Amino acid sequence: MNRRNFIVGIDVGTAEVRVGLGEPRPDGTLNIVGLGLSPSDGVRKGVIVDLEKTVESVVSAVEEAERMAGFKIDSAYVALKGLNIELINNRGVVAVTSEDREIREEDLERVMQAARVVALPTDREIVDIIPREYIVDGFEGIKDPVGMLGVRLEVDAQVVTSLITSLHNLLRCVSRGGVTVNGLVLQALANAEVSLSADEKELGAFLVDIGGGTTEIAFFQNGKLENLSVLPVGGDHITTDLAAGLRINYQSAEELKKEYGTAMSSMAESEPKIEIRTVGSNELRLVSERELSSFIEPRVQEIFHIIREEITKMGWPYLPPAGMIMRGGVSSMRGMQEMARVALESDQVRVADFDVVGIKNPIYSTVIGLLYYVRRQQPRMHIQERSKPARKKGPGLWQRIKDWLTDIVD
Ligand SMILES: Nc1ncnc2c1ncn2[C@@H]1O[C@H](COP(=O)(O)OP(=O)(O)OP(=O)(O)O)[C@@H](O)[C@H]1O
Ligand SMILES: [Mg+2]
Repeated sequence: MNRRNFIVGIDVGTAEVRVGLGEPRPDGTLNIVGLGLSPSDGVRKGVIVDLEKTVESVVSAVEEAERMAGFKIDSAYVALKGLNIELINNRGVVAVTSEDREIREEDLERVMQAARVVALPTDREIVDIIPREYIVDGFEGIKDPVGMLGVRLEVDAQVVTSLITSLHNLLRCVSRGGVTVNGLVLQALANAEVSLSADEKELGAFLVDIGGGTTEIAFFQNGKLENLSVLPVGGDHITTDLAAGLRINYQSAEELKKEYGTAMSSMAESEPKIEIRTVGSNELRLVSERELSSFIEPRVQEIFHIIREEITKMGWPYLPPAGMIMRGGVSSMRGMQEMARVALESDQVRVADFDVVGIKNPIYSTVIGLLYYVRRQQPRMHIQERSKPARKKGPGLWQRIKDWLTDIVD
């Protein structure tokens, strides 16, 4: 357990590993007391390809956050990308056991365990179960049934499953970095915590995270995550195109893209005033933003084309009422919103506002969202600590998930 119940989050991204440390305030908000960042050289397209390098990145990001906070981190929640994730809707039903028919915490625990019973192939494992709503004696839409009277308690839950192999390395990197994994949080849920309003989640919205190696598309409606998909495209492809097009090295292309990149060439300046040095030659050449954009725009168009195909496959040939909200490193490039509006033929597209939690840097927004998600879910996540009677009947759901996480790492 971390000192004074601090919540720690780790996001292992393609570009960087980020660590965040928050102290819960009584009003439900968090005081962010530590942040850490380290380039992640061992991750490609969202997949860990070099274990040792990733462990080093985790250690150095954790150490940075520890230095800032002034104490050691023991355990953390880890963001889980939508790659190889499947969401299964399932119901659990139990009879309320107490004599007075009052629903207690242990009934909740039992009904969640009942929802856990799904047929799974051997290569998949349950990583989380998210209650969508409870139903008491046929009455639907109940958010918290504890204290209500009833005979039959049902839960409509979302069972999150992952391929064991793809999880394995992520968990190993964190635990070998000296940090115990408290639990996993779907990146999409962490992102939604800081980037979507309750109304947007209710009405129907796509939250699209365009990162370095992946683009994650999450669809929310009726307050819930309804669909999730990850595409292997992102900012790294734009950099590769720019490097090839201008014949410059990858690192220079990455820097040019971030500093002068424009997604829509008609918005870029045409005056050649950016100095570049082509590979194999010592001569400097001047290029314009417009020329850079001539290599960036086609790839951005392609990314939006792929996004549009994917959301059409999800049943949305046009955008849902609350439209599409973009986030991730690539969404901070100039002209992204304009290009998205053209590509999706809708004005209902915006770039997420990162200033909502006081940390302006979008780099940390997944990890900050994760801290807020854990803060809000904490009663459920710590249900074992609170309800002693359930413990007598064997380990509870979160404990079992934790035990399984420990097993998989060992
Ligand atoms: N201002 C900017 N303009 C253009 N691209 C940018 C800018 N800032 C960051 N990027 C790009 O965003 C990408 C990194 O985004 P992000 O930090 O969201 O990715 P990640 O979470 O590490 O990766 P992933 O989610 O794919 O694992 C890189 O390709 C980077 O070049
Ligand atoms: Mg990311």
